[in-house]
Amino acid sequence: MLKFISAGGLDSGTYREKAQSAYKLLQNGTGKGSDFTGWFSPGSKQNEIESGLLDTAAELRENSDVTVVIGIGGSYLGAKAVIEMLAPGSEEVVFAGNNLSGSALERLLDKTLHGVDFSVIVISKSGTTTEPALAFRLLERELRYRYGTEAPKRIVAVTNPNGGAMRKIAESGGYRIFTIPDNIGGRYSVLTSAGLLPIAVAGIDAAALHNAAAEFAVSDKISLSLEYAAVRQALYASGKKLEALSLFEPNFQYLGEWFKQLFGESEGKDGKGIFPVSLNLTADLHSMGQYMQDGERSMFETFLWADSGSWYRIPESADNFDGFNNLAGKRFDDINRIALDATKQAHTEGGVPANEINIGELNVVSVGELLQFFMLSCGVSGYISGVNPFDQPGVEAYKRNMKNLM
Ligand code: PA5
Repeated sequence: MLKFISAGGLDSGTYREKAQSAYKLLQNGTGKGSDFTGWFSPGSKQNEIESGLLDTAAELRENSDVTVVIGIGGSYLGAKAVIEMLAPGSEEVVFAGNNLSGSALERLLDKTLHGVDFSVIVISKSGTTTEPALAFRLLERELRYRYGTEAPKRIVAVTNPNGGAMRKIAESGGYRIFTIPDNIGGRYSVLTSAGLLPIAVAGIDAAALHNAAAEFAVSDKISLSLEYAAVRQALYASGKKLEALSLFEPNFQYLGEWFKQLFGESEGKDGKGIFPVSLNLTADLHSMGQYMQDGERSMFETFLWADSGSWYRIPESADNFDGFNNLAGKRFDDINRIALDATKQAHTEGGVPANEINIGELNVVSVGELLQFFMLSCGVSGYISGVNPFDQPGVEAYKRNMKNLM
């Protein structure tokens, strides 16, 4: 069960009231960008898992050794984060179209896809995003070369329900189509077909994930999201301009990427916004640890804890040269938790206020809740700061420059 423990010593009373008002704006659909708040109620009729999605996922698993998911930003980060958390090391789903590296595509075709059967899920709401569009051209050609008239059965598009370039490509190619609802933007789309299809192809129970998020959204637990949003904004007002999400499992790295996109793209506008970063601990304690403890005091930290459920224990050593025999027999996870507690205390004493999100046991339910927890916190936090958390006018500038230069 998800718990949120906020940084102490903070008067966030006014911000709690602001969080309540911001939540009402979301609930009533009266805030900025309210035509993009479809994610707010994952349990609604409109947000049911699309018909045929789970069967399509099962078919792709059956037909293919590897499914390549093409997409960038909100069109892949949620799925990648969940797959890494719940099916770490999965080789059944790989990602492409999230960069413009020719060598990455060369490795994909020459190594990963060499001699194996593969399919493609291409996810793009607009269909005109450069990275996925170019990668899809290449992989579509490869599928046609390998499978001829059977190739269309191996291509699934996830796109806009009404029109758009990707829909045109899919319709003219005879590919199956799933949709991202009009009122859900990319970074809030993990619980739509954009996230759920790849997640199901990776063998994860997508229905249980979706259900857990839907239940969270109508439970008392939403107060935890509101508290997190209030505390973030209270900390920001007190001069803390950067938030580090500190993760203690190596397979949470992409959760950090998803978090950065969600909060960065939602809040970084109108000259304001908390700058989100993520730290992979304990590894980064040996690099960024110095800065966190002793550098400029303009940040706060949010620790995320999940118990991986591993019973791996530290073995006894006959000679004990390293002096760690006092830990023999203890679970690695227990030592990991001690590392979190020790770091939290040290950083707090060093002037970095620390929150903690504890999701308990890592499983499909706790991850589903966590996704909805973050999306709700983000919407509320954005509204408290007065921005529209659902648009991204800033990302157009580089796209325009690129189009001109190309
Ligand atoms: O959150 C967003 O809106 C963006 O990150 C988009 O998801 C990303 O730019 C990809 O866009 P599209 O799905 O249109 O290819």
